[in-house]
Amino acid sequence: MPPAPTVAGWRASRRLLLGAGFSAGVAGCAWGQPAQNQGPGLHQLAREKGFTFGAAVQAGLLSTDASYAAAYEREAGILVPEFEGKWSILQPKEGEFDFSQFDAILQWGLARGRPTRGHALVWHDAFPGWANAAVGEGPARARAVMAAHIARVLSTTRLRIRDWDVVNEPVADPPGSDTPQAQGELRDTPFLRALGPSYIDTAFRLAREQDATLRLVLNEYGVEEDTPWAEEKRRRLLALVRGMVRRRVPIDAVGLQAHLQILRPFSIPVFANFVSALRAEGLSVLVTELDIREGEGVPDDYVARDRLVGERASAFMEAAIGAGVKTFLTWGLVDRYSWLVNEAAVARPDGKLHRGLPLDWEYNRKEMWRAMARAFTAA
Ligand code: XIL
Repeated sequence: MPPAPTVAGWRASRRLLLGAGFSAGVAGCAWGQPAQNQGPGLHQLAREKGFTFGAAVQAGLLSTDASYAAAYEREAGILVPEFEGKWSILQPKEGEFDFSQFDAILQWGLARGRPTRGHALVWHDAFPGWANAAVGEGPARARAVMAAHIARVLSTTRLRIRDWDVVNEPVADPPGSDTPQAQGELRDTPFLRALGPSYIDTAFRLAREQDATLRLVLNEYGVEEDTPWAEEKRRRLLALVRGMVRRRVPIDAVGLQAHLQILRPFSIPVFANFVSALRAEGLSVLVTELDIREGEGVPDDYVARDRLVGERASAFMEAAIGAGVKTFLTWGLVDRYSWLVNEAAVARPDGKLHRGLPLDWEYNRKEMWRAMARAFTAA
């Protein structure tokens, strides 16, 4: 027979019971996580089915916001620096490199067995004034500036990083898109002006010279949805990578950013066919920056909005998984720090805050999280 409970023991266990009930129902469980955040994260659910899930991360927040760090610990199996791998951060002045922020992310990940991917070696944005001016001095100087940056960055991160976005966003936005370019299939960038279209091949070749086994990725946006301008951008991107493959340029993968918008049509077969066409060239396809934007005219209440975001996430995941994508990263994890909220160019025009990431403003899992979890689990 178990010993009769003492009065003190009874009080203690009653407190525990009440505490547990209170926590689970209202404030949070014993170790401070709201009930909906209990259980395996996307990282684990993805890994169990042979996928990788991760998210863009900010070094400053990892060290200052414990809830943010805990969310990444729970959910993210791979990291990508949101800013810290960009040219203007790594080489703000010619020849002066600063890897401190980048390293902070790498170290945080290494301590937890979470690899970091690199983003982005050659990009027209986050490109410092000095580099812009130098590249404008002519082809020889442009090539030297590119070579020096790639050599220094890749030799420093070698062995700790498995893949890098070598060229980001090289394809011009066609007529009809938000930011169309008047002419040309390639984006008008400092390197295009200095070196012509071969700047893309050059960047990949320079990267390969540094590292024979690094996965070299070309990253692009605006090719996922079922609109005429996305169709044209798909055609341009496919032509570009097919040319690279034919010229034996060392490209291993294409990253599709997947900054989706609910108000734009999305077709599972259209997107899946595009992924298949890229894979038929012998390339891997990664989803590198998934998030989902709302527009005017979506419902007011959170539940309905979150359901729409979740539905779009479900359709997208179904298409991507069906076509063989194995790696998924969202562009951030928590709505409160999303560029969709903090950047005027992509924020909602009516001043409401986007809810386009798996975790809400309070770091809690919501419909988009569940859509992704279901997609991994069902695969
Ligand atoms: C964005 C960041 O999230 C913003 O905070 C920054 O101001 C601009 O860049 N495609 C990319 C990312 O490849 O690097 C961009 O990140 C988002 C679009």
